[in-house]
Amino acid sequence: MDRIVSEEETVEDNFEQNIRPKTLDEYIGQSEVKENLSIFIKAAKLREEPLDHVLLYGPPGLGKTTLAFIIANELGSNIKTASGPSIEKSGDLAAILSNLEPGDVLFIDEIHRIPRFVEEILYSAMEDFTLDIVIGTETSSRNIKIDLPPFTLVGATTRAGDLTSPLRDRFGIVNKLNYYTVDELKQIALRTSKVLECNIDEDAALELARRSRGTPRICNRLFKRVRDFAMVMGNGSIDLSITKHALDKLKVDELGLDETDYHLLKSIIEKFNGGPVGIEAIASSIGEEQTTIEDVYEPYLLQTGLLKRTTRGRMVTEKAYKHLGIPYKNN
Ligand SMILES: Nc1ncnc2c1ncn2[C@@H]1O[C@H](COP(=O)(O)OP(=O)(O)OP(=O)(O)O)[C@@H](O)[C@H]1O
Ligand SMILES: [Mg+2]
Repeated sequence: MDRIVSEEETVEDNFEQNIRPKTLDEYIGQSEVKENLSIFIKAAKLREEPLDHVLLYGPPGLGKTTLAFIIANELGSNIKTASGPSIEKSGDLAAILSNLEPGDVLFIDEIHRIPRFVEEILYSAMEDFTLDIVIGTETSSRNIKIDLPPFTLVGATTRAGDLTSPLRDRFGIVNKLNYYTVDELKQIALRTSKVLECNIDEDAALELARRSRGTPRICNRLFKRVRDFAMVMGNGSIDLSITKHALDKLKVDELGLDETDYHLLKSIIEKFNGGPVGIEAIASSIGEEQTTIEDVYEPYLLQTGLLKRTTRGRMVTEKAYKHLGIPYKNN
């Protein structure tokens, strides 16, 4: 998938660690999450206890990984990282846990992808800081208990619904990240402008924010592409007309929709009469994975009111017909 407005991380994003805010103060938006976390972090430090385990969930690119690093930073703790798909066997998780030092933050990304039988090890680790494992062969196995140092688990997932309830229940702090407002994204663009030392006009930052699908990662990525246009076509400073020109060239429309979104909406209209239609049928008609549609495309289309979910399936709304310039038939 090679979309400019893809929420997914790309290799290039990884080189942009310097854009990542490092403290809660620098982290823009999500004010409720931030305020609560700030209190819980201060209280944990006053008690000299580890912070309770934190679950962060929400669509890709909204700042879960960023926040996990900020939590460790604000606690003054070291962070160790792992990701769900890389934990395949009980031994993988046992090794990670037994490497922890007192007060560490263990960040597990895509935590919903840890296999169920491996996940069970986390239960006692999270609850009593003990590692309960079975060693030996089937014929001569025994249980051993190892004490772990107190630590804080920060789990991130785009699919909170895929977490088992025993795991979800062991997080004392559960935070959902929401799409950012245009104003917040504008602040993010202005902040990125400072970090990258590349000037952007206020109205250009606003335009960029409007087209960023409520997602900081997309905002930063579009910023970098617009900067390219500004350097080659102008004097390097980003103004409104360069921004509009660049975004049009990148085929990102005024709502931040790209060709894939158009393809999705149009095929529901053309092949399924606007819906309602099941997600499986949409997936096969546009040749995408169902989970990709559910995690990546659909949340923003729902958020902007172009698509709605009914008990009988997805429906394209009147607003979407208008946006696409297709006459709306109400049937
Ligand atoms: N609140 C914020 N303020 C400023 N910049 C932010 C904020 N949140 C995220 N960003 C920027 O957006 C980028 C993407 O954020 P991050 O990688 O934390 O998202 P994520 O939720 O972990 O995504 P994924 O689900 O794909 O792992 C970061 O590199 C960071 O620069
Ligand atoms: Mg992440």
